[in-house]
Amino acid sequence: MYEQVSHAALNQILDELKPEIKKVELRFFYSRLGANFYAIYSLFDKLYGNRKDFYPQLKNLVEVMARNYIARPQTYKKKDQAREADHNWFLHQRWVGMALYANGFAEDLDDLENHIPYFTELGVNLIHILPILTCPVGKSDGGYAVSDFRLVDPRMGSNESLQRIVDSLHQRKALIALDVVVNHTSDEHAWAVKASQGEEQYQDYYYTFDNRDIPDMFEQSMPEVFPETDAGNFTWNKLMQKWVMTVFHSYQWDLNYSNPRVFTEMLDIMFFWVNRGIDILRLDAVAFLWKKLGTACQNEKEAHLILQLFKDCCQVVAPGVLFIAEAIVAPTEIIKYFGEDAVAAKECEIAYNATFMALLWDSVATKNAKLLKQGLKNLPNKLERATWLNYLRCHDDIGFGFEDQDIAAVGYDPRGHRRFLMDYFTGEFPESLACGKPFGRNEKTGDARISGSLASLVGLEKSLEAGDEKLSEQCLRHIILLHSLIMSFGGIPLLYYGDELGVLNDYSYLGDEQKLPDSRWIHRPKIDWRIAQRRRIKNSVEQSIFEALQRMIHLRRETNAFADFNNRELLDLSNECCFGFVRYNDQNPVEKVIVVVNFSAVPQYLDLQELALSARMDPAGLQDLWTDRPPVVMADNLVLGGFQFYWLARR
Ligand code: GLC
Ligand code: GLC
Repeated sequence: MYEQVSHAALNQILDELKPEIKKVELRFFYSRLGANFYAIYSLFDKLYGNRKDFYPQLKNLVEVMARNYIARPQTYKKKDQAREADHNWFLHQRWVGMALYANGFAEDLDDLENHIPYFTELGVNLIHILPILTCPVGKSDGGYAVSDFRLVDPRMGSNESLQRIVDSLHQRKALIALDVVVNHTSDEHAWAVKASQGEEQYQDYYYTFDNRDIPDMFEQSMPEVFPETDAGNFTWNKLMQKWVMTVFHSYQWDLNYSNPRVFTEMLDIMFFWVNRGIDILRLDAVAFLWKKLGTACQNEKEAHLILQLFKDCCQVVAPGVLFIAEAIVAPTEIIKYFGEDAVAAKECEIAYNATFMALLWDSVATKNAKLLKQGLKNLPNKLERATWLNYLRCHDDIGFGFEDQDIAAVGYDPRGHRRFLMDYFTGEFPESLACGKPFGRNEKTGDARISGSLASLVGLEKSLEAGDEKLSEQCLRHIILLHSLIMSFGGIPLLYYGDELGVLNDYSYLGDEQKLPDSRWIHRPKIDWRIAQRRRIKNSVEQSIFEALQRMIHLRRETNAFADFNNRELLDLSNECCFGFVRYNDQNPVEKVIVVVNFSAVPQYLDLQELALSARMDPAGLQDLWTDRPPVVMADNLVLGGFQFYWLARR
């Protein structure tokens, strides 16, 4: 959009650009800057317009973009253009992701390179390597307390070893995603060190306070993320003689985005990595980016403006790069991280579907789909050019972040139901096969979350221990069923490393003093590659899951209706234990898939007429893509065995 004030500012900035920037051919940079400048200017003005240094900060922002555009390697610039031309490229069903720790999946980055063929074997082609940047020993929060944003941690490898992985994945037409921990730094980051030593410029990078007056006011409305280990949201720094805001651990200092320097520094760091070939940036803890007295300091309007500004600037330099929003917040808030009041995504193109994840775990505990069906009503249609990451487990705990009113709407008492879920997943509930550990228990509020590996939470650990083959068999079906949903729901399925082999809880963290207080380490395993070899042994646990996933990924890739274009309709099924939806392809009405699952261990019937009505499709003559056989039908009912699912389509 053309608008005089911003245009005049742009002209002046371009006029004043340093000669070394002016000299370079910047055609695509200028056309994109022209397209986005009004938005960039307006957002920057909204956030920082009241500052005396508004203009020099804006100019600095444009310079940072220009420099990074100039530095962007030609191959990535070409990729940007190809993706601009095929702008829905990431909504295609061919993408399947895996998140992993370099030093858990492998020894380190160099060793990870050796395992790249494994990705191809399984069929995953989007690799999210969990944080690998330099962190202090011990005070690392699993890599999320970064002390140098431009340097791979020497314990993980080097920037060169990462570059080799990037190149090798790109050769295989796979994507790589990396974290940018935008919300905070380690207390050992150079900025924090300088702040502690009294440099005011760097104290302004954080929220620092001489006394408890303002911190106490903040505390009245701020929840605690790690109540057990890091109660409160502020930490006293002796050297600085000030309080500093630390929402997560006491050694993770929250960055102050009301300072435009912080914004531009972080943008520069993002460009550093996208110019090294990173396709997707996972923006960590984005809900926390803006702090305001009297609020929970989550999901504030300004946090969204900051994300929009990041996006608008990134589109100028590297429009082929995507953002993932890690915002594990209430269902109606998550969707806003794509952007509000827009047609196409304007903040992050991808967001964790924490709503679906948590609701699926509810179905595991209750063996029914009641809350899932109710909760999904809160999941509005996405914007265009936006997609979900559908996942079952990740490196974090599971929070039961659904709404109390939904729990009540399906007939449970919210407090009682939440207690039941905790009891179920910690194995305290009679008949529960799960063996998770509580995480983030807050005595004041009664909140709690769950840690544990997928297989152990579903019950495989206990049933193997008991030597109960039938039960183990059932757990395997359950694990495969859950995957069938993230593969078909619409969005990018994101597997968590180890789950493809049925890896159980790892209790070794109990013997490690640094890890002991954080039960999330129970599900951050070290892969034993000798055990992984069992994926070739018939009927082993490893083979059962691995081969099922291989096959599912293959089928997904062949099924156009599984691409993500808001092309899903939930089925209205009266059987509480069953859940389903129809996926269709607007381009070709014949391509429709009915997905139905049975969340209970006992066989269930689905009335065929009801199914036909709800799916607006006659199920007669359909084939189950999964088994490549017609589904089982008995007296006008579709029959689903315990933990069975169907992907029904016309062959
Ligand atoms: C994100 C990470 C989590 C970390 C937190 C603080 O939520 O996923 O592991 O503890 O941010 O950085
Ligand atoms: C909370 C935060 C999330 C973080 C997690 C770590 O859920 O919202 O960002 O990853 O805690 O446990």
